[in-house]
Amino acid sequence: MTDTPDLPTGTPVEPASVVAAPAGVTVVDHPLVQHKLTLMREHDTSTASFRRLLREISLLLAYEVTRTLPMTTKRISTPIQEMDAPTIEGKKLALISILRAGNGLMDGILDLIPAARVGFVGLYRDPETLQPVQYYFKVPQHLEDRTCIVVDPMLATGNSSAAAVDLLKEAGAKDIRFLCLLAAPEGIARMQEAHPDVAIVTAAIDSHLNDHGYIVPGLGDAGDRMFGTK
Ligand code: URA
Repeated sequence: MTDTPDLPTGTPVEPASVVAAPAGVTVVDHPLVQHKLTLMREHDTSTASFRRLLREISLLLAYEVTRTLPMTTKRISTPIQEMDAPTIEGKKLALISILRAGNGLMDGILDLIPAARVGFVGLYRDPETLQPVQYYFKVPQHLEDRTCIVVDPMLATGNSSAAAVDLLKEAGAKDIRFLCLLAAPEGIARMQEAHPDVAIVTAAIDSHLNDHGYIVPGLGDAGDRMFGTK
């Protein structure tokens, strides 16, 4: 797990929940989400527990990010009577995972929305320019007719998230939402500057980024923690 080197041990940072959410950002402050997030943040939480908690929390976050999906009705017959019953309008959702950590969030969401279409965006940071460079892009057809939910657990600098949304818009996507576990104020500002139309849903907004681009207090490197790498 990655340490946060600019933070002296024993200096607690204010809990994330005290940071007010700006317009366009929803913080899911449900007790189950917050409890599970605390377990995930803890240094000693095992890889297996981290992965299980991420899967569980992603279901609860998915509930929130899909709250405003467009609805319509369809005529059905119950055993008693015909009725016009609510149903989600339009084509199947597109879930877009920003590799690799996005996959950890996506797996849980697919339990809840098994018919969703799935896309992947791979970006790495150029060591010279520090700008995101695309190495993989595979998304479902007809993005223009789908609600796209972009998933990445950590909204840190916001550079790769903003670049992923750029690519999705180039591919035709119009209704895009961004779902993460933790957000830094810097990442939210970057996303909102580049894509003010993209609603952000997160479990918490943390204090700031450290000099290494890690979220403080954060939970370390989400990919390493979920895959057991270092
Ligand atoms: N990515 C991570 O996995 N963790 C951070 O804190 C920032 C970016």
